[in-house]
Amino acid sequence: MNPPLVLPESYWIASTEATTYPAAADTVTTEVAVVGGGIAGLCTAWELARAGRSVAVIEADRIAAAVTGNTTAKLSAQHAAIYAHLRDAFGTAAARDYAEAQTGAIAHVAAIAERLGIDCELERAPSFVYTESEEGVAAMREEAEAAREAGLPASFTTETGLPFPVAGAVRVEDQAQFHPRRFLLALAADLTAQGARIFEESRVTGLETDDGTHVLAFAGGGEVRCDQVVIATQFPVIDRIKLFARLTPRRELVVAGAIPESADPGGMYITGEQGTRSVRTAPYGEGRRLLIVTGEAFTPGDAGTAERLDRLTAWTTERFGVESIEYRWAAQDYTTTDRVPFVGELSGDDGVYVACGFGGWGMSNGVAAARTIAATIAGTPPRWAELFGPGRFHLLREGGKLAKAQSKVVGHFIGDRLPHAAPSEPEELAPGEGAVMRIGGALRAVYRDEDGGLHTLSATCTHLGCVVGFNDAERNWECPCHGSRYAPSGAVLQGPATSPLEAHPHH
Ligand code: FES
Repeated sequence: MNPPLVLPESYWIASTEATTYPAAADTVTTEVAVVGGGIAGLCTAWELARAGRSVAVIEADRIAAAVTGNTTAKLSAQHAAIYAHLRDAFGTAAARDYAEAQTGAIAHVAAIAERLGIDCELERAPSFVYTESEEGVAAMREEAEAAREAGLPASFTTETGLPFPVAGAVRVEDQAQFHPRRFLLALAADLTAQGARIFEESRVTGLETDDGTHVLAFAGGGEVRCDQVVIATQFPVIDRIKLFARLTPRRELVVAGAIPESADPGGMYITGEQGTRSVRTAPYGEGRRLLIVTGEAFTPGDAGTAERLDRLTAWTTERFGVESIEYRWAAQDYTTTDRVPFVGELSGDDGVYVACGFGGWGMSNGVAAARTIAATIAGTPPRWAELFGPGRFHLLREGGKLAKAQSKVVGHFIGDRLPHAAPSEPEELAPGEGAVMRIGGALRAVYRDEDGGLHTLSATCTHLGCVVGFNDAERNWECPCHGSRYAPSGAVLQGPATSPLEAHPHH
């Protein structure tokens, strides 16, 4: 077996400067606190600051670095084959609202980039969802019709710029792709120029509401006092209405390599089954483009990630003739039970807003969420606010999926996932390998580092107690229930967990 691969940082992160905003110390007082410095949080803060509000952005790690820093950054209203689903589940008017929210978000990003003079490599391009099998063609035709009914410039076609034939595709004109960090770092700079504050490495651990004032607590002490809170972490770190039961985590792998400009497929592509294969390109120097391919979606913590990475790499080199993969990374997002994000005030009038569940389409959904929340705070919610409202629940639309998601979670609690072939003793672990095993009756997450040292942690996720699994490509621990991720030291890499896996020194 080859030694597992550690995924380095994304192209977006590698091609931009790191940020160094200060950590929150002592007490910060502001009108609106935005928790989470990804695209949804930064854009919400920007909209509010522009409207004259005092705003503070609070990020657990670094801004535009976690989920947003690892996106493929398609800025598209075509979210795989979603419009036939939206029409059937919510009706034609709702499908139109969804399309309008997304299309408006794309235009908004373009307008901001122009107004602030941001060189974020924004390119207009058609977007395609395609199938290679004849059985998938009817669904593509139906999707083309539903997308057109929703107001998008969509058509069914069998012609694409891909270097292999497709059986059928839906083409939507005039979508966009961009460099998300170039856009967001410039937006953040503009935010602070307007007097807003940005705090990094400040992990929020709790929210108390006292007489209309919200008080956010931090891991390292200190607090933020505010009138309104926007929870724009990818998974709500504050979850007063139990959204966790309606969000399913999904992790995907990304590989990127150079192709000659002449081989550019001229658009953005995704297979009909969302998350299976997704393709876009970006400028990459004279006469070249960077081909970015995403796929092999999996539940965080599922075994076999290094193999998935091999499959994705093979597909990319065989299909596109990419000679060397220059970047590899992973992206994570959550899908809601009805595939529409949760955006808006949690419970009517408590001043706590949430934006999450973007289903892998965080760029347009994140900007749409920001505009929706800012307008709602200003007292002028857009027409689609109700469609995205986190309080919605529809038994027929969500009931079955909710039950399915929950039964899966119950399975993870009881530790049903110890694979038979996996090492069951620490001694069996090779350097770079990790596994969950029973030690003295307790489930432990054990990792052997490159120098042979063993790192033994509790295998119980500190969020709600599911059993974590080892990711052998990224070498960290992941929770299948709500996607928390931990370093081999036990430190939280990604919430919703806010405290580390407990260490159990190995003797
Ligand atoms: Fe919720 Fe682990 S992320 S239990």
